[in-house]
Amino acid sequence: MQHKLPELQFAIDSLTPHISKETLEYHHKKHHQTYIDNLNKLIPGTPFETMSLEEIIHTADGPIFNNAAQIWNHTFYFNCLSPTKSKPNAKVLMALEKSFGSQDEFIKQFSATAIATFGSGWAWLVQNDDLNVEIISTSNAATPLTDNKNILLTCDVWEHAYYIDYRNSRPNYLAAFWKLANWDFVNQNFK
Ligand code: FE2
Repeated sequence: MQHKLPELQFAIDSLTPHISKETLEYHHKKHHQTYIDNLNKLIPGTPFETMSLEEIIHTADGPIFNNAAQIWNHTFYFNCLSPTKSKPNAKVLMALEKSFGSQDEFIKQFSATAIATFGSGWAWLVQNDDLNVEIISTSNAATPLTDNKNILLTCDVWEHAYYIDYRNSRPNYLAAFWKLANWDFVNQNFK
């Protein structure tokens, strides 16, 4: 099947001043699109041709895995951003308090994990089988989807996510990320 670039769920200029239109033009229309174009070139004539994106991620390796996982990771990441303010619901708040003590402490620890992720990668909030939540970091295209974790939130810490707006300051990008975090999406993902 032919994979297609999902539309952003917000206007491309609506995340300013935290994430600029220019960043999103590169991040969504160029980087995300390129992963899609690459995957569409790699899968014809292979067993992956008829698989869903999730099935590819669970079975492929090498360039097919990398491009498929980056498509999924970016779609999820863009859904984690919103110009509309939202907050964790009671269940999510309770889970954050159980694992981290408070929402503020969670934000501190998630930011620290994102900032400390070496090189290109992702920070994630995931929910395990016991329904407890934890923060994890992955490198390059790696995604907690392969470990069957229920994914609640992610922040892309590849330099292309922030270099136009924040140059080398990943901490400033993380501060901006929290201004845009889509808690409605987290609430919806929580089991
Ligand atoms: Fe990215």
